[in-house]
Amino acid sequence: MPPSSTEPAADVIRTSNSQAFCCKSIDKLISESEQPEHRLSKSLGPWSLTALGIGAIIGSGIFVLTGTAAAGEYFQAPSILHAQALDVIVNLLRTGSMAGALMHGRPPAGPSIAISFLLVAIACSFAGLCYAELASMIPIAGSAYTYSYATLGEIFAWIIGWDLILEYVVSNVAVAVGFAGYTKAQLAVFGLNLPDKWASPVWAGGQWTGAYFNLPGFLIVFILTLLLVRGVKESAETNNIMVAVKIGAILTFLVVGGMLVKPANWTPFAPSGFAGIVTGGAIVFFTYIGFDSVSTAAEESRNPQKDLPFGIIMSLIVCTLLYVGVAVVLLGMMKYTTFVSGEAAEAPVAYAMKYLGVHPFFRSVIVIGALTGMISSLLVFQYGQARIWYAMSRDGLLPKLFSAVHPKYKTPHWSTWIACFAVGIPAGLVDIGDAADLANIGTLFAFVLVSLGVIFLRRKQPDRKRAFRVPFVPWFPLISVILCGGLMFGLTLITWLRFVIWLALGLLIYIFYSRHHSEFCKKKIG
Ligand code: ALA
Repeated sequence: MPPSSTEPAADVIRTSNSQAFCCKSIDKLISESEQPEHRLSKSLGPWSLTALGIGAIIGSGIFVLTGTAAAGEYFQAPSILHAQALDVIVNLLRTGSMAGALMHGRPPAGPSIAISFLLVAIACSFAGLCYAELASMIPIAGSAYTYSYATLGEIFAWIIGWDLILEYVVSNVAVAVGFAGYTKAQLAVFGLNLPDKWASPVWAGGQWTGAYFNLPGFLIVFILTLLLVRGVKESAETNNIMVAVKIGAILTFLVVGGMLVKPANWTPFAPSGFAGIVTGGAIVFFTYIGFDSVSTAAEESRNPQKDLPFGIIMSLIVCTLLYVGVAVVLLGMMKYTTFVSGEAAEAPVAYAMKYLGVHPFFRSVIVIGALTGMISSLLVFQYGQARIWYAMSRDGLLPKLFSAVHPKYKTPHWSTWIACFAVGIPAGLVDIGDAADLANIGTLFAFVLVSLGVIFLRRKQPDRKRAFRVPFVPWFPLISVILCGGLMFGLTLITWLRFVIWLALGLLIYIFYSRHHSEFCKKKIG
């Protein structure tokens, strides 16, 4: 369809009468990214991209969630809002009463949590393949946001861009708060006690704590921002070192812990059968979040068509091997029932090593590995968030400030600083606790849309060159939609409610701002 006379730019072609469903031309997206004022420096190769993925994936999750996921739990949900959506429906049908619907729990996975890690990796790899195909076709910084703009239309792009804030900002607030708590606890071991007033959340567990600010949580994000603004190459090099440290720490655990394994602890292997494996999987999904952030580096990679799929898939493979290894060793070191509560539940890896009398040197290696893991995860997510805002701003959906590129360092410095305060200030104030589940739901929703995007684009543009192709389309993307959608239903109703409120807020911003500044807007404001 030719552009109408009211359109703002001659080269903008509306693909639908309704602005909300207009899709961006992939060629135009690519040519815009090449414009000098928006061009980012291209310095990342396949292994740096893989390291970026591993940097994001291995954060705090593997060190804290493996124990509780294996041990299971039973609890009475305080209200229907805190119950898992799918659980409520099943329990209501089963018991026919609201009291029954609120009785919840997870059967223990036991040592079979290793299978859960494997199954979640398989579920993620379906989504990973879809990301890889779109990243190889549309090597642009915005990741799922950009793919949705090219496939589903502007309104979907906005929703997903807004939704990705949950994955990147909310999860990083949670990791920054976790980092602060872990650092404080470790420094206390060495007799260095940080003052509670300046090293604890101001608001935690639904009440004021009397603290002023959680400075370590803010400072770590601030320091990483200085690095990210300085340059992507420098950041990637630092990330490579951190990834080596955390992989080294995990390998150390595998060797040292492996020598303390008692095979008797592996029986029963799956105390709750398949039910335990699946519910354990819903918990450990968090440990895999991050592989998709590789695709945000599209414009800074030297050969995105080939290297992005490599980075996404390779980082998933490496992390799966390490995760399964940790699960097998940890659950061989101690009986899974040990990890049901207390210190053993909060820091199972550290606990097992301490309890079994591992030399303090090796224990310190693990502590350093865990802290480094959190820092690199923070680094990559801060990086990714800035790139997504940068892409949204270039399209006019966010103010132009977000896509300004630093004249010397060639990084989106404004976006990076805004991401710093968007994460650092909440991290200094609140312990978001179960609101961190918002990160899971936001991520899964993005996976669903990206998988649908592959199917749409295969139909709409079958001949466009794809350096990487998902096999068995539409079946593989559909499996991804079903698995990710299923995991979404494993989350609590309050998480769903918060998610819907977040999306509604985003829609208001779209209606009152973004829509009027988009290139597809017939009458531009201002
Ligand atoms: N996958 C990241 C972690 O486990 C978010 O911390």
